[in-house]
Amino acid sequence: MYKLLFDLVFKKMDPEKAHHLAFFWIRLAASVPGLRQLVKAVLAPRDPALRTTALGLDLPGPFGLGAGFDKDGIGIDGLSMLGFDFVEIGTVTGEPQPGNPAPRLFRLIEDRALINRMGFNNQGSVRVAARLTGRIRATGTPIVGINIGKTKVVEEADATEDYLKSTRRLAPHADYLVVNVSSPNTPGLRNLQAVQILGPLLWDVRKAADEVTPHHVPLLVKIAPDLADEDIDEIADMALTLGLDGIIATNTTIGREGLATDAARVEEIGMGGLSGAPLKARSLEVLQRLRARTEGRLAIISVGGVETAEDAWQRIVHGADLVQGYSAFVYEGPFWMRRVHKGLSARLKASGYRTIADAVGTAKA
Ligand SMILES: Cc1cc2nc3c(=O)[nH]c(=O)nc-3n(C[C@H](O)[C@H](O)[C@H](O)COP(=O)(O)O)c2cc1C
Repeated sequence: MYKLLFDLVFKKMDPEKAHHLAFFWIRLAASVPGLRQLVKAVLAPRDPALRTTALGLDLPGPFGLGAGFDKDGIGIDGLSMLGFDFVEIGTVTGEPQPGNPAPRLFRLIEDRALINRMGFNNQGSVRVAARLTGRIRATGTPIVGINIGKTKVVEEADATEDYLKSTRRLAPHADYLVVNVSSPNTPGLRNLQAVQILGPLLWDVRKAADEVTPHHVPLLVKIAPDLADEDIDEIADMALTLGLDGIIATNTTIGREGLATDAARVEEIGMGGLSGAPLKARSLEVLQRLRARTEGRLAIISVGGVETAEDAWQRIVHGADLVQGYSAFVYEGPFWMRRVHKGLSARLKASGYRTIADAVGTAKA
């Protein structure tokens, strides 16, 4: 059904326009009284065994939506209605910005992949915070992570102040906060992954978050798949030293290896971050490395190329407390989360573990 819709409608449209259209429908459906509950009853996980605890949060399941789909936090209820167990909004920057010129989102259909150079198009921390202020947060309302990044025009030397601005405004509304230093589409951003810079930045964000909230807001850092293995180890060690709550691995890659799409087409698309199936192997590798280094002392959210329940299960048994997806949602449609949850339930049952949390990191290395 979705396959047909994708082939007949979305595939023929510009990918960014298709995104806006699909997202509009999702929000519209969620705004119709009664419909949201009905759709959620069908699509959201119903197996209580999938309930899990991570980052001190109680979640209906381990499977969430990665950052970038809902940059401004305008469709949290709609996305939760479709069955995502948590929704990460953003990246939100200190100041509003338009992002890069279009076209800036491309499909690599043969590879079940996307390339994007959106460049953090978003309404900025003031507007997003104002929008979230109206949300009532209580048991049963969607878990919301907020991902923050650097405003493009802010110099690298002033990056900390920009992150702190967003932290002060957004931390009070976040179930968890993510410092994004790994998007390839903001010049210089990934230089912030160097531990000498990242350590003080995360320390300052931690302090700023504590100043504006009476409770502990879990703080995570999101890293790139293109880091060398030694850099991943260094970041893991630093995260432990700083008392960070977790790491999200990974963002999109600047690599273009092993693609089925015609090389000339890939060349023509140009710069941007590659996501989806081609990222699967490296994302799993980074997860395994992080797990080996941190041995369960940090929460890990694994993202990158997750397409099936088996992919999600593999992430869990290799050490992911939570799993996210984005690109496969574009190709698989609104029943994707239901399929992943069903498959996870079956795998959990077959494994003999009682809960998802019990299964985390149980794979033989
Ligand atoms: C169009 C698009 C926009 C994205 N925007 C962001 C973003 O703003 N911040 C971020 O941290 N990650 C962003 N991502 C990265 C995703 O959150 C995720 O880390 C990556 O796509 C790998 O997961 P996937 O293979 O399931 O798509 C974006 C990805 C896509 C495809």
